[in-house]
Amino acid sequence: VRGLQPYQPGKPVEELERELGIRDAVKLASNENPLGPSRLAVQAMQTAQEAVWRYPDGNGFRLKAQLAEQLDLEPAALTLGNGSSEVLQFVVQAFVTPEDEVLFSEHAFAVYPILTQAAGARAVVVPARRWGHDLSAMRAAVTERTRLIFIANPNNPTGTWLEAEALETFLTELPPHVILVVDEAYFEYAADRGMGAAGYPDTVPWVERFPNLVVSRTFSKVYGLAGLRIGYGVSHPAVADLLNRVRPPFNCNSLALGAAEAALADTVHLQRTLENNHRGMQRLTAACEALGLEYIPSVGNFLTIDVERPGDAVYEALLREGVIVRPVANYGLPRHLRVTVGLPEENERFIAALTRVLER
Ligand SMILES: Cc1ncc(COP(=O)(O)O)c(C=O)c1O
Repeated sequence: VRGLQPYQPGKPVEELERELGIRDAVKLASNENPLGPSRLAVQAMQTAQEAVWRYPDGNGFRLKAQLAEQLDLEPAALTLGNGSSEVLQFVVQAFVTPEDEVLFSEHAFAVYPILTQAAGARAVVVPARRWGHDLSAMRAAVTERTRLIFIANPNNPTGTWLEAEALETFLTELPPHVILVVDEAYFEYAADRGMGAAGYPDTVPWVERFPNLVVSRTFSKVYGLAGLRIGYGVSHPAVADLLNRVRPPFNCNSLALGAAEAALADTVHLQRTLENNHRGMQRLTAACEALGLEYIPSVGNFLTIDVERPGDAVYEALLREGVIVRPVANYGLPRHLRVTVGLPEENERFIAALTRVLER
């Protein structure tokens, strides 16, 4: 445990404003929804707050029923988590022992190595191919000891994605003792036509055919509820049964459950969010091209840019401009910065600040 490197969250806006004595800092560091939550979700929280003296529904009956209907599966296939990262933790707790290996790609989400190390298991990091997952190298790295593989699709922090055919073939060829987690925290963005990710899969229907598949999704990103902490896993009901055994009682609070139900139903807000994202992505990529900077093509709500100099220094200089982005040296990308797609005016603040910083 002492050897664990704690997860580094994006710098909070209030912290930077306090440090610089400014008021209008912009945070594009944690892949949050810049439009915020659905108004319906906020109203649902207001309603739910009257009942906070009671414990929440420990089985999340209503949210699970709604998700089950939307995803066309049994509620028994669902596991609710305090954020989808908690679902990832349940998978590790339920399946991984210190004798096991956990496989993931270079430039993968920082939570995977933390969970692996916390379980005392061995992390096997497979080199990336063109910033994304190298599925044949990952397949070749599977041993008798491999118990779990994490694949984020799209991947954070690179925004790269895998097509249905490649991912399904990979899954078909996996030995049955290996659990595959497909982490779809950014699913809705990649599935949006505006992002142009032809062939991007919806893996949820696959759980019927593959009992060793767990799909995780979240309300933190497209639904704008990162602060409430709610996400879910989809798997074969027998696997969900195991995950729910390690789940702490009342892990999802009543405000989060109520807000998530309302957020799911608000398709107008979802569409607005997706629209803002693909427009913003076009603006950010065009700005990179104008500045002569390469970026990793992304189908998420963030863009990772090669700033051609130490990313940490550019990050610090942007902070002094009141713009918070994410340095990604800890992801093996020392010259890159990851920026979340913001509101149009936030994107402009970032572009103007980056232009000034790079000119210096
Ligand atoms: C790839 C990936 N998975 C999972 C998460 C966790 O999200 P949450 O725990 O808020 O659902 C994130 C958040 O940044 C992410 O980028």
